[in-house]
Amino acid sequence: MRSDGHLKVTEDGSHTLFSERFGEHYHSTHGAIQESRHVFISSGLAEVDLSSPSILEIGFGTGLNALLSLIYGQENDLPIRYTTIEMYPMSTALVELINYTETLGYADEYRLLHNSEWEEWINITSYFHLKKLEGDLVTTRLTDAYDLIYFDAFSPEAQPELWKESIFGKIANVCNPGAVLTTYSAKGAVRRSLQATGFEVERIPGPPGKREMIRARKL
Ligand SMILES: C[S@@+](CC[C@H](N)C(=O)[O-])C[C@H]1O[C@@H](n2cnc3c(N)ncnc32)[C@H](O)[C@@H]1O
Repeated sequence: MRSDGHLKVTEDGSHTLFSERFGEHYHSTHGAIQESRHVFISSGLAEVDLSSPSILEIGFGTGLNALLSLIYGQENDLPIRYTTIEMYPMSTALVELINYTETLGYADEYRLLHNSEWEEWINITSYFHLKKLEGDLVTTRLTDAYDLIYFDAFSPEAQPELWKESIFGKIANVCNPGAVLTTYSAKGAVRRSLQATGFEVERIPGPPGKREMIRARKL
């Protein structure tokens, strides 16, 4: 099942996609690159003090979080293992139109992120090892163990089934002790579900346009 939608230029000049299926944008319209950098890189990857972090992303989508992580790894000599799960992969035609590499560079790597085989470990660069899982987070069996979780589903209003205690419990089961989870949401119900599944939760400043977001740590 392919993702359908249309591209929109956000306030920092970078594209986001509007999902017809979920009635929401993939990123903040205040700035897609700006939001991903803030929520997942500065508040997540840059805070994890490990020589080779293992990341799990919920929702590969446009591949923006993966690209920013690849660049971070490259610039910081940091080898990253990156697993991502996606139920509705984007069409190649849409990927070709996205403007991220006009400002970020890494056009070949970005294309490879999208074109690489699913369900297999692929070396995108010598620092970035990718495994894309095609499927539904609700039913896909998660294996491996992760140090950092990018929880980037559509909002709790659009996808209540993904922000439930049972899902956070499933994720907690594959977290290494001290693993960090970041997400753009700051909802009380999300915080409580994370706490109930063994995470210590803090509210930290959100990206432009959003007062707060959640960062949680597996106890
Ligand atoms: C808010 S978008 C963010 C995507 C991505 N991180 C990005 O930067 O473009 C949410 C993503 O989750 C995917 N998704 C929605 N429901 C899902 C499910 N049940 N299992 C796995 N992925 C899902 C959507 O197709 C979409 O790509």
